[in-house]
Amino acid sequence: MIVLGIETTCDETGVALVKDGKEILFNTVATQEVHEIYGGVVPELACRRHIDVLLPLVQKALGCISHIDLIAVAHTPGLIGALLIGVNFAKALSLATKIPFIGVNHIEAHLYAAMMQQTPPFPALGVVLSGGHTELLCIEKIGKYHLIGKTCDDAIGEAFDKTAKLLGLAYPGGPEIERLALEGTARFPFKSGQVKSNPFAFSFSGLKTAVFYAIRERTLTLQEKADVAASFQKAAFSDVVKKVNLASQQFPVRSIVMGGGVTNNQTLRALMKESCRLPLFFPPPGLSLDNGAMIAGLGYHRFKEKGQDTWDLEPLPRSLYYSSFVCELPIEAPRVEADVAPQPL
Ligand code: KG4
Ligand code: ZN
Repeated sequence: MIVLGIETTCDETGVALVKDGKEILFNTVATQEVHEIYGGVVPELACRRHIDVLLPLVQKALGCISHIDLIAVAHTPGLIGALLIGVNFAKALSLATKIPFIGVNHIEAHLYAAMMQQTPPFPALGVVLSGGHTELLCIEKIGKYHLIGKTCDDAIGEAFDKTAKLLGLAYPGGPEIERLALEGTARFPFKSGQVKSNPFAFSFSGLKTAVFYAIRERTLTLQEKADVAASFQKAAFSDVVKKVNLASQQFPVRSIVMGGGVTNNQTLRALMKESCRLPLFFPPPGLSLDNGAMIAGLGYHRFKEKGQDTWDLEPLPRSLYYSSFVCELPIEAPRVEADVAPQPL
């Protein structure tokens, strides 16, 4: 079964062809450099760029293949205008060709990226580290998850982007901080926030504010900037590693599945490999950041499970559910004394 995947949730236009949920036949991402000078994504500009590039990318994809069986589109979560473009494009293509379409959750697809070419032992601990989300989940199988903890303020990628902006670095800030941190010493005692009610929840806004106070009204040398970047990155990643390790002890999980743009960071990958006892699954090269292949791949599984979507499929800027069949509680309760009751996603 060949699936066309369409990704337009934020500022990348991704189009891919994936066979049977695994084999990538075509995968291309148009990155929008237009946002760089603004230090963040400008939704109106993102929408205009999606409109410019989506049709030519899909034409290019369809030019390499004799037929497709399904159109999968990321319909949640994301910028509403950007989602509308992808969803309406998928519906129009489906209407014209009579090929079925299906909506896919973008965050679930980030986790699927690491499971596309290898199947981890389940249940697995899912770790979402993206620009808009930071979450720990128990993955019972593809399509069945329950939430253990999430950020109560900034997502980790957002904290990287905002800290980079404070340091005068370009957008997106994650790769810039990673590069600069390699030159620096983590000598500033920054710390990520802890959430009293849930040891598996995250808080990164205080960390970013600590950077702001440490550097305000000062002109930093390049070395000082590198030291700040290294200190920030160390504080953010040690918190992730600590919570991942705690969750993997407290929940009966057999592997760790990482997803989202921040997992592109090689320092994080090395740290996780060094400190986690369970088998680790990262997205393969090119699949950490937003892309259409993860959407096509997950679309295949969703279709097998529940069939095609109908015209009332809506773009949802915030998603409550990863999939319609999630959030039962088959996994044994955590062994910590804390408020960690699973909640709907
Ligand atoms: O998952 P993603 O592509 O988009 C969302 O769904 O949000 O993640 C984008 C985020 C941005 O915040 C970006 O700065 C961050 O991932 N990122 C990184 C790295 N590459 C991208 N953060 C740290 N280190 C990196 N190498
Ligand atoms: Zn993403």
